[in-house]
Amino acid sequence: MADPATVSPGTGTVSSGTGSDTVSPDSGARSPADRDAGTAISPEPGTHSPTRPDTRTAAATPDPAPSVRPAHPAHPAHPDTRDADADVVFGRLRAHQSAKLALTGRFAGRGAVETGAQGARVQLSDGRSMLDFGSYAVTLLGHRHPGVTAAVRRQLDVMPTSTRSLANPVTAAAAECLAAYFGGVLPKVYFGLNGSDAVEVSVKLARLASGRDRVLAVNGGFHGKTLGALALTHSPLFRAGLRGCAVDVTHIDAADPGAVAREAARGDVAAVVFEPVQGENGARPIAPEVLRRWTRDARAHGVFAVADEIQCGLRRCGERSVALAEGLAVDAVLVGKPLGGGVVPLSAVVCTPQLYAPLAADPFLHSATFGGHPLSCAALPAALTAIEERAAHGAGLATAIEAGLRTLAARHSRLVRGVTGRGLLWGVDFAVPHAAGEVVVELASAGLVVSPCLSRPTTVRLLPSLATTHAQLAEALGILDGALTLAGSAVTV
Ligand SMILES: Cc1ncc(COP(=O)(O)O)c(C=O)c1O
Repeated sequence: MADPATVSPGTGTVSSGTGSDTVSPDSGARSPADRDAGTAISPEPGTHSPTRPDTRTAAATPDPAPSVRPAHPAHPAHPDTRDADADVVFGRLRAHQSAKLALTGRFAGRGAVETGAQGARVQLSDGRSMLDFGSYAVTLLGHRHPGVTAAVRRQLDVMPTSTRSLANPVTAAAAECLAAYFGGVLPKVYFGLNGSDAVEVSVKLARLASGRDRVLAVNGGFHGKTLGALALTHSPLFRAGLRGCAVDVTHIDAADPGAVAREAARGDVAAVVFEPVQGENGARPIAPEVLRRWTRDARAHGVFAVADEIQCGLRRCGERSVALAEGLAVDAVLVGKPLGGGVVPLSAVVCTPQLYAPLAADPFLHSATFGGHPLSCAALPAALTAIEERAAHGAGLATAIEAGLRTLAARHSRLVRGVTGRGLLWGVDFAVPHAAGEVVVELASAGLVVSPCLSRPTTVRLLPSLATTHAQLAEALGILDGALTLAGSAVTV
């Protein structure tokens, strides 16, 4: 599908043909006022504030009861992460969050913690760096894209928070920008902060607008962990200990083209929600002909079709929207993760007036204190502009990673069952779960961050960013080749 909206590079402006707003121009320059006032906008790497407390003091002694410590300069509430002491961090995580979180973090960083990042690389507290092919799809633009950080910084200095009584121009412009990005075919926008927000709002709207309650979701699908979104998520792993969730959901199979027509015939289905490419399920595309049949049948039965592209959309899989590019008749596209440029949290339901009708009639039917947060919305035009600027590079990377992974799969065929994916979302599927585990261990040691698939433990997910150079991709594939070789000699299949 042609991309009808044009994003003007370098200006943060997306033109819809119906007018354009210049929001947060894409420039990292500090204003003279900032310089005159000596405002600390972004400390240069390696510079140390003389007043910054030294967290290393805290590391010298064990951490017997961190929870009762006062927040004084030796134990600051907001330590400068550039010289974080890993053991202090793990101690705090154990004391105040979860011992398992501390353990998995220690394992992923081989005892070090993340302290900084730029582009495709993450710096660690022990001086090493790792290539980031993970971050659960958030850092599509890499870390700290300068256009996005400049836009957010500017908003921070002007008005980061909305009164929510007065109208906010940054939020309004972001909504126009996002609708234009999808060609104006889905003109209504609801902003949330997390993907789960967008999933829940789309389901709530579908139920209200249709007067029906049941929702169809897909086997293997992942839509979040808040109770409503969790009802749609397929794997029982994420529902352990809960006796059901609040939404009446029927899961259908991606190999069953007639499922929507059959279920919808009962007359109680409000929506069908699907990921065109299932991310958490191992980067598995659903066959376009099945999606075409489902969405056609949904429309025929008055069922809203919702494409959850929180992971696969915004060019992660090549297209602005996979569903729209396939020509599917969807009522909503859900986006999140990289929507805030990998810098701030932001998600959205982008939908038809029919689905949005309950909110158009009563905007307070669903709202949240931080919905449409100006700081997050300021990032959106800069993020979409940057994604478009890097789209051609992304297509080249996509071709290269697919070819590289297929070569590795053939070379290590005893261990690797296959590779699946699209664009910059790939899964390497192993013959047995412990092979995947062994490879993740080796990758962590050799300096490659990946995202495991919790509900499909045989698959290791690779999510390179648009900031990745071809040399970095070759480096990552070399690391993976080495890990597969080591695992191959250690693992019995
Ligand atoms: C397709 C999809 N939908 C929804 C979600 C939930 O998003 P969040 O974790 O931001 O709530 C995710 C998260 O991984 C996702 O991949």
